[in-house]
Amino acid sequence: MLDVAAIDAFYAESHILHQVSLTVAERQRVAVLGRNGAGKSTLLKSIMNAGTTVRGGLSWRGASIEKTKAHERARKGIALVPEDRRIYTHMTVLENISFARFGVSRRVALKEARDVIASIPMLSTLGERMGGELSGGQQQMLAVARGLAAKPSLLLLDEPTEGLAPVIVEQMATDILARCEAEGIALLLCEQNVWFARKCTDHVYVIDTGRIVFGGSWGDFDGNPEIADKYLAV
Ligand SMILES: Nc1ncnc2c1ncn2[C@@H]1O[C@H](COP(=O)(O)OP(=O)(O)O)[C@@H](O)[C@H]1O
Ligand SMILES: [Mg+2]
Repeated sequence: MLDVAAIDAFYAESHILHQVSLTVAERQRVAVLGRNGAGKSTLLKSIMNAGTTVRGGLSWRGASIEKTKAHERARKGIALVPEDRRIYTHMTVLENISFARFGVSRRVALKEARDVIASIPMLSTLGERMGGELSGGQQQMLAVARGLAAKPSLLLLDEPTEGLAPVIVEQMATDILARCEAEGIALLLCEQNVWFARKCTDHVYVIDTGRIVFGGSWGDFDGNPEIADKYLAV
């Protein structure tokens, strides 16, 4: 579905990603692990065309999207939940979610937002709460819910668990998995939390200084413990 073929990515003169290749199949869930500064956010921004200059091959369902603008990529079914969340603190949870749904009437968007909230236990009682009144974990789940509400074919998640307590991380994994499976949504998840990444995905890449240094199943990952030691240990 998504094919990233040997891309290089830049911020102005800074060359950040080097020959990065990865694929995500329809309905597949894939993790990218890497330390702070490894290039995870840059990779997701490059897939979305949101702030980087990219050279190399990017295709979506067999067709090149190298020249496709961010909003057109969104329309094709790619949604990014960025690391800075950008939830609206002065809107309710319902408004935050319905706001993300374009191309349908406000009434339909609100109904769909209610359905999304109802299907996510972490948010199910919080529809009328203002975004700014939520806890950190609830805000992060709201950002994820907004990504899901756009009904993407592929959801790009940038470290959704950052700073969250383990019990919240566990609930978030359950909620994301259930929703992706029910809706047939593929996932590309950038994370430092190995437990969460393992729970949510069945294929894993490791990125370090802008290069992919490992790709395989979680079984392969466990069979090569030096990968985690070398590239993920703090
Ligand atoms: N807007 C930017 N301009 C220049 N360099 C950046 C910018 N954003 C990130 N970088 C650099 O790109 C590298 C990768 O960063 P990033 O993709 O944010 O890593 P990660 O998400 O894995 O922590 C880092 O060296 C970082 O300093
Ligand atoms: Mg990042």
